[in-house]
Amino acid sequence: MADGNMAGREGTQGRSEVRNETRLAHVIVVGNEKGGAGKSTVAMHLSVALMRMGKRVGLLDLDVRQRSFSRYLENRTRWNETTGANLPIPQTIRIDASQARDLDAAEAEEAERFDESLERLRQSCDFIIVDSPGGDSFLSRKAHASADSLVTPLNDSFVDFDLLGDVDSQTLEVVRPSFYAELVWDCRKRKAQNSRTPIDWVVMRNRMSPLDARNKQRVGEALDNLARRIGFRIAPGLSERVIYRELFPMGLTLLDLTEAGSNVAFTMSHVAARQEIRDLLIVLKLPGLEGVEISF
Ligand SMILES: Nc1ncnc2c1ncn2[C@@H]1O[C@H](COP(=O)(O)OP(=O)(O)OP(=O)(O)O)[C@@H](O)[C@H]1O
Ligand SMILES: [Mg+2]
Repeated sequence: MADGNMAGREGTQGRSEVRNETRLAHVIVVGNEKGGAGKSTVAMHLSVALMRMGKRVGLLDLDVRQRSFSRYLENRTRWNETTGANLPIPQTIRIDASQARDLDAAEAEEAERFDESLERLRQSCDFIIVDSPGGDSFLSRKAHASADSLVTPLNDSFVDFDLLGDVDSQTLEVVRPSFYAELVWDCRKRKAQNSRTPIDWVVMRNRMSPLDARNKQRVGEALDNLARRIGFRIAPGLSERVIYRELFPMGLTLLDLTEAGSNVAFTMSHVAARQEIRDLLIVLKLPGLEGVEISF
């Protein structure tokens, strides 16, 4: 692998604990073909949540187009430097798309970069979180086929629902699974060929509005139908909150707001938002966290 193509960054982990050497790192892929569904936001919050629970977290950043995740981490590092805070930062490896013009050569190069990066993080992490890019790409499929848990944030509207399933607008019955569901189906088969453990797929609604109760109920019903048809679990989602957009330029998560150095007011809305992150973590049923107190 050409190391120049892969910018590695060693992070500062939070309160780490002695690692159980016999257990393999658990891979959580955050993915959805749809852009702007909240993948990077969820990946960052999950990684900080797990670090605050004493877990070692590695992050694979595949967001090859926008680099929003890398920017988020740069902002977080800058925040630590300027405020003197000591916010945990996950060990992160960014994987770039191959520049090779020949498709086979490009895919072989990307596969090698991905496998090596995953292996590197496996050496030192309890959890590896993969921030998958929007769209359908070789790297994205490769990541999905490596997932132990797959978390799919979904904007709370039928526009975004369309990539998961085609539903009858009257009955809300699923007519057929669509692009992204087929991609996951394909990756589930690939994972089954290479590993004995299946992909646990959890779909979570994002940016839920308290205003449009009818839309919320209809999307919920359609999602229940689709979950039964194509096999995923549903997590309670995250509400629409301005704070997520405000935190980005500072590289902060909701879980950092009560830390020293934070000058963002912590409100009741933020308490509720944190609870939503806790609920997500509970539904994910991650290994090693059974019965563990959620300490954030
Ligand atoms: N629950 C929410 N409430 C309000 N804004 C949100 C919420 N979740 C995400 N956002 C905002 O929506 C925008 C897109 O989110 P994000 O970058 O996490 O999506 P993404 O799926 O990673 O996008 P891409 O496909 O481009 O990588 C960001 O500005 C983010 O702050
Ligand atoms: Mg992203």
